[in-house]
Amino acid sequence: MPDIPNVAFSDGTSVPALGLGTWNMGEHAKTAPIEVESLKRGLDLGMTLVDTAEMYAEGGAEEIAGEAIAGRRDEVFLVSKVYPWNASRQGVIDACDRSLERLKTDRLDLYLLHWRGEHPLAETVAGFEELRRAGKIGAWGVSNFDLDDMQELMEVPDGRNCVTNQVLYNLSRRGIEYDLLPWCQENGIVVMAYSPIEQGRILRNPELIRIAKAYQATPAQVALAFLLERDGLIAIPKSANPQRVEENAHAAELDLSDEDLDALDAAFPPPERKQPLEML
Ligand SMILES: NC(=O)c1ccc[n+]([C@@H]2O[C@H](COP(=O)([O-])OP(=O)(O)OC[C@H]3O[C@@H](n4cnc5c(N)ncnc54)[C@H](OP(=O)(O)O)[C@@H]3O)[C@@H](O)[C@H]2O)c1
Repeated sequence: MPDIPNVAFSDGTSVPALGLGTWNMGEHAKTAPIEVESLKRGLDLGMTLVDTAEMYAEGGAEEIAGEAIAGRRDEVFLVSKVYPWNASRQGVIDACDRSLERLKTDRLDLYLLHWRGEHPLAETVAGFEELRRAGKIGAWGVSNFDLDDMQELMEVPDGRNCVTNQVLYNLSRRGIEYDLLPWCQENGIVVMAYSPIEQGRILRNPELIRIAKAYQATPAQVALAFLLERDGLIAIPKSANPQRVEENAHAAELDLSDEDLDALDAAFPPPERKQPLEML
């Protein structure tokens, strides 16, 4: 079993730094069994954080996640997200109930606002806090929030109870290193890196391939290991292939040398100025 490091949220809860994404799961009945098997393999390997959303396959991914965690709910740190247009005070409560039904559980460990929409942040936060008091969620956070959004959130009543910001972050999308990542680290807000291998698009980069070979590793493992160098960061690769899930889990064992980290900086330059947060 790979030794996956832990990351602690500000409320003291500790989770593995490598979790399991579910985007594109639950789209077709034919692929459901392999998706469930892949998630179960990840849980067996200690990737016990499962990231889903009401958006993915319009609830279908939550149903896949529900099947994967059946009978082992207590092993899992379960994350889901609410659509921005459902994020009124009462809307988040109703959406959460629907998610819980699809996931066949009575609680989410973490509930996120998927991206900013038309409802005032104060209303969404009030709904999240009500869910927390009712024991339906353990904690809440946001997703796709740039630095100015985070600063605004901190001014809202109870806004400082936000424990995470889930954003696009990988070797080819390093903009957050300029401002958002250090700000989150200083403020005790865990960053969840989504699309950590850029949905596979960076894996043919010659420099990534060269470095991977030197470690007898794969480009995906190097891309994930690069992210795991950061403090207070969780990466959530998605795979519906049990072998690749295993490959991703073992990325936690890679220790990249300073020389190779410099080579990655040359191939994928870090930002030199503010870049607006990108979204997928
Ligand atoms: N909050 C947001 O707005 C937001 C946005 C995007 C994503 N997310 C979350 O983040 C998760 C991860 O992001 P993502 O799914 O966009 O992209 P990703 O994890 O960067 O990449 C997933 C793609 O890479 C392939 N893959 C996975 N492991 C691989 C490996 N070791 N070697 C080669 N290919 C591999 C997968 O194919 P196979 O399945 O065939 O292996 C899939 O096509 C999502 O599933 C979702 O939970 C959140």
